[in-house]
Amino acid sequence: MRVIHSPKEMQQQVREWKQQGLKIALVPTMGCLHAGHLSLMRIARQNGDRVIVSIFVNPLQFGPNEDFDAYPRQFEADCSLVKNEKVHLVFHPDAGEMYPCGFQTTISVKNLSVGMCGADRPGHFDGVATVVAQLLHITSPDVAVFGEKDFQQLTIIRQMVRDLHFPVTIIGAPIIREADGLAMSSRNKYLKGEMRHQALCLYQSIQAVKLLVGDRGGTNVTAEAVVELTKKTVEEAGCRLEYAVVVNEHSLQPEAVVGNGSVLAIAVKVGGSVRLIDNAKLVPGRMR
Ligand code: PAJ
Repeated sequence: MRVIHSPKEMQQQVREWKQQGLKIALVPTMGCLHAGHLSLMRIARQNGDRVIVSIFVNPLQFGPNEDFDAYPRQFEADCSLVKNEKVHLVFHPDAGEMYPCGFQTTISVKNLSVGMCGADRPGHFDGVATVVAQLLHITSPDVAVFGEKDFQQLTIIRQMVRDLHFPVTIIGAPIIREADGLAMSSRNKYLKGEMRHQALCLYQSIQAVKLLVGDRGGTNVTAEAVVELTKKTVEEAGCRLEYAVVVNEHSLQPEAVVGNGSVLAIAVKVGGSVRLIDNAKLVPGRMR
């Protein structure tokens, strides 16, 4: 498995593959890989002849008081995991190559970036859109795979790709969870002792809401009732609810009543410091 650091060298490799008529699949990551990331690589393999995994902790998407410096980095271990998935190439650029001195271009997917995580993390999604645009330009993939775990991010990337006519198909991949339901995340490494147990409140909230929506046969479950139940479940676990919203899966606009295509998205602070997110599609009348 090849590791490339330079964007120019990466572009050269992509040109060679394209000349050979090979289909390229990209999986962008920030490393500290877990089974959720690996599932994206398997989907990429099914959809491309050559799979590129990018590993880059993107400074532009971290706020001043966020965990950029502390973000877990384990490049060697990541490379072994990626190799096992029969990935062809790891693209691991330096921040100085992605954002050279004088860099001043950002991409902002305006409306979709303001609510939910965008409200708690101003500028975060501009940082994500900008780096993903760079990665798509550098690797020119036919397909790129992103997780539904970061549901707002996936929606924003789909919109950017549509708006800017990127010739790429975006594939959304299902959320991979631990056996007890906790959505896998690189930030789960921060969960020490009791926090690991408390973090289950995200999944428990989703399950409780699904029961509520299923029980009522899908009639008139209000977003207010969903948010109330989520808040109660989260607070009983000793955590703080940052937000819980019922939104349309495409527009991310709030919905007053749960309908087909509604998504419950939540963000929770565990132990006062670890911010986790989760989401689920709500299907009225169906208990899952
Ligand atoms: P990162 O958090 O490393 O996630 C990389 C990809 O893995 C994202 O598409 C994310 O949605 C997906 N992923 C994470 N946990 C998952 C899980 N439990 N199940 C399924 N997929 C999961 O998201 C980013 O990095 C960055 O913002 C990035 C897009 C790379 C831009 O810097």
